[in-house]
Amino acid sequence: MLRYKTFVPLVAAAGLAFGAPAGAEPTAEVLHWWTSGGEAKAVGELKNSFEAQGGTWIDSPIAGGGGDAAMTALRARVVAGNPPTAVQLKGPGIQEWAEQGALNDVEDVAEAENWNGVLPPVLAEIMKYDGKYVAAPVNIHRVDWMWANPEVLAKAGIGAMPTTWDEFNAAADKLMAAGITPLAHGGQPWQDATVFENVVLGVGGADFFRAALVDLDQEALNSPTMVAAFDQLRRMRGYVDPNFSGRDWNLATAMVMNGEAAFQIMGDWAKGEFLAAGKVPGEDFLCAPTPGNGFVLNSDSFTFFKVSGDDNIAGQKLLASLIMSPGFQETFNLAKGSIPARTDVALDKFDACAQRSHEDLLKATEANALVPSMAHEMAIPRSVRGEFLDLVTEFFNSDMSSEDAAQRLADAVKRAM
Ligand code: BGC
Repeated sequence: MLRYKTFVPLVAAAGLAFGAPAGAEPTAEVLHWWTSGGEAKAVGELKNSFEAQGGTWIDSPIAGGGGDAAMTALRARVVAGNPPTAVQLKGPGIQEWAEQGALNDVEDVAEAENWNGVLPPVLAEIMKYDGKYVAAPVNIHRVDWMWANPEVLAKAGIGAMPTTWDEFNAAADKLMAAGITPLAHGGQPWQDATVFENVVLGVGGADFFRAALVDLDQEALNSPTMVAAFDQLRRMRGYVDPNFSGRDWNLATAMVMNGEAAFQIMGDWAKGEFLAAGKVPGEDFLCAPTPGNGFVLNSDSFTFFKVSGDDNIAGQKLLASLIMSPGFQETFNLAKGSIPARTDVALDKFDACAQRSHEDLLKATEANALVPSMAHEMAIPRSVRGEFLDLVTEFFNSDMSSEDAAQRLADAVKRAM
């Protein structure tokens, strides 16, 4: 295994080693949406490492969980002919920009560092266009997580994290009876969709998730199983507090932290928030997968846009090399709440939630139950994802029946394809 110590000189030499002209000063304008406490800490690790290697980092944060605002800003920048050097971007979005000829590749770095040998094939494929790496992955986030405040659970007499949706509902009913908000939730479309996709996995299983949310199969979309998923979502609407609308996800996490609510259903970037606030997993907060079998995959990556100039090209190569270095993957993911994208980084310093994520990832891969996140842009084009978000949010904020929701979802997806 590559160790941090052996890696540092390689990173330092990245500019020269990968054909950047001598004298170039690695520069990168980095567009991202990591602005919450935990996120800012994690991206700060990247900035510091880049600067420690002599790079100039120009920070372009666009606030807004889930990255929808950042993606709008990115489009405007590219249309204006002024793209950032590197952009937090993922899934099919990488392919869409590559098809438009908007990206530079970093294949020389990837080849010299044997990225193919250290990345899970499913991630490697997402990072490549035309056989060449155009993006570098920083992590593996799991979306199907549930976070809880143990003291609050104890107050309502709940001894363990729920393992089925029936158990979840029973626990939530007990909390309601005790006058405690069961579910901390932020009413923003991407957060509604995050809860929805986890429920779809739990109610329908991985094959159903794939059929409906990845392959966009009409029969699956408008099926009794989808109706059952909407029924569960409807029930959960009753478990959120009256002020949920528009709330940022990290404020929902804070509600769990402060004992104002019992649970939050959110990817493990929420763990980054707990950790940034000095909370200890297993003591101050609990983690458990949402009920169901599988693993909803979300991976952040930086994609390299078509910039020119020796300094910018050197910046892209240095950033690519740095992002994939084992030492950085460890430091970054300890702060971010995720696990490394590289398969050869030891996890001894990671907590029990991260260990569980890694074990379940391996199990789900084996069982063909690893599914890409729809809500977090790993599965389907943005335009179709938009239809899911609109419909799920409308459902959550109205009295639409589950049958109508399934029918309307199927129709909207058909129109968008
Ligand atoms: C990203 C995470 C981020 C979260 C909230 C997700 O789509 O993958 O890195 O922390 O959105 O902003």
